[in-house]
Amino acid sequence: MSEEKNKKKILVVNGPNLNLLGLREPGIYGSATLDEGMKALEERFPQVDFAFFQSNIEGELVDVIQQYGFTADGIVLNAGAYTHTSVAIHDAIKAIRTPVVEVHLSNIYSRETFRHTSLITSACIGIIGGFGMDSYRLAVEALLNR
Ligand code: DQA
Repeated sequence: MSEEKNKKKILVVNGPNLNLLGLREPGIYGSATLDEGMKALEERFPQVDFAFFQSNIEGELVDVIQQYGFTADGIVLNAGAYTHTSVAIHDAIKAIRTPVVEVHLSNIYSRETFRHTSLITSACIGIIGGFGMDSYRLAVEALLNR
């Protein structure tokens, strides 16, 4: 993330298997790659200083949340499958000061029952899901409107 003045700083974090967007179950997650989706955000919000991070490793997601969690203006987090399992990510969100919006490409509540539980929602300021890549745009809008 650069040091540009007057720009809101937003970190977008993507968890496990989201690096395979475009290839991965396109009927559920769409045909856009993660890179395409993140570039679209940069184009849509030139007034935002974005940082992007993706990892398949839970601890790396905790690390980046801690790293940006006291300086960024907002975090958009798609924790992937860790949404449903990770007390560590829940605790990291609780530990920081930066507001976090939980996002999902799919509507987790219309899918398998094991996806109906999110361990991170209660630590986030809100949750947006079901709108494909547009979920990320809506999350950024929500952070900018605060
Ligand atoms: C997801 C939903 C999760 O249940 C799943 O494990 C993912 C992607 C979504 O964006 O819809 O990896 O977070």
